[in-house]
Amino acid sequence: MSGLGPRLAARIAADGPISVHDYMHACLADPDYGYYRDGVPLGAAGDFTTAPEISQVFGEMLGLWLADRWQAAGAPARAALVELGPGRGTLMDDALRAAAKALPAFAAAAKLHLVEISRSLRAVQGAKLARAAPVFHDDFGTVPDDAPVFLVANEFLDALPVRQFVRRGPTWRERVVTFANGAFAFADGPAVAEPPLSATQIADAPDGAVVEACPAALDIATRVARRIAKTGGAALFVDYGTDRSGWGDTLQAVRRHAKAGVFDAPGECDLTAHVDFPRFAAAARANGAAAFGPATQGDFLRRIGIHARLAVLARGAAPQVARNISDASRRLLDAGEMGTLFKVVALQAPAAAAPPGFEG
Ligand SMILES: C[S@@+](CC[C@H](N)C(=O)[O-])C[C@H]1O[C@@H](n2cnc3c(N)ncnc32)[C@H](O)[C@@H]1O
Repeated sequence: MSGLGPRLAARIAADGPISVHDYMHACLADPDYGYYRDGVPLGAAGDFTTAPEISQVFGEMLGLWLADRWQAAGAPARAALVELGPGRGTLMDDALRAAAKALPAFAAAAKLHLVEISRSLRAVQGAKLARAAPVFHDDFGTVPDDAPVFLVANEFLDALPVRQFVRRGPTWRERVVTFANGAFAFADGPAVAEPPLSATQIADAPDGAVVEACPAALDIATRVARRIAKTGGAALFVDYGTDRSGWGDTLQAVRRHAKAGVFDAPGECDLTAHVDFPRFAAAARANGAAAFGPATQGDFLRRIGIHARLAVLARGAAPQVARNISDASRRLLDAGEMGTLFKVVALQAPAAAAPPGFEG
């Protein structure tokens, strides 16, 4: 166990149980021991693999989508190109290369801003994207708001801490983490008179159900929507999650490409929760943006033309390369893989036509 486990155990012994939210936040973002402060967790040698790490096509398609939205917004002379949680910088590297080829004026107009809390990943991103001279931010709030924003975030929202509530008859209780006899455990915490849940969640949850809310994801939806309403622009959020706001415990831990226990090694496993896309989109709409989706990742990528791009890559490719391309396509698009579990939501200024990938 890293230094975080003993530190959390001591905190609980001194102050009492902590909320699931505070446990998840400490595991991921503790300044000293948080999972996303140091190290490079993505890729074969890490704990998990994301879509941009599977194939260059993913970042390329998203880059072309952003360039298209910039053009649809009247090709502003200055634009803020923003990524939240850029990982190894692979998505943005592929996005910039494809966008610069298809629409060089977009690449020339765009100033790159990366919102990233990991020291190690910032170094990787800075090296890979040096040609675009990225400006780093701890938080979206410091991205200058003097130009339209074109934003992308892949597997960022699932890394934001969730609160969990348990229904006990007519009472809702915050789910908390205890430490006793050398082990962390879940328990029912204090009663919460008005849990920040949607009407659907409250209506549907049976007795004993765990229901989740992610304040930080709703905060991002709110701030990005307000920003788009103010300066114009568009945003694309891709993540695993639901297309119906519901109930259920989705908190999970992953380590070295396998499921782990949430309490196995605080600060050393990736902890995630599914994104509630209907609530995310509702928060964006309530703050001045038009929200589209969620569409499944498979449908979105097919609609914006991934098959044409895959065909170009496969043309004349050596047999092994062609097999890799076909394998990547299956992983990104198939229902049993990332095609349906992963969803996409787009935000843009109201009154604009539906963006590519969300028509109909
Ligand atoms: C699951 S990785 C996804 C990486 C990348 N988007 C990809 O698809 O490969 C999550 C990313 O978000 C960053 N991150 C996590 N929590 C964050 C936070 N609160 N603020 C900014 N970045 C954060 C991580 O350091 C990492 O770069």
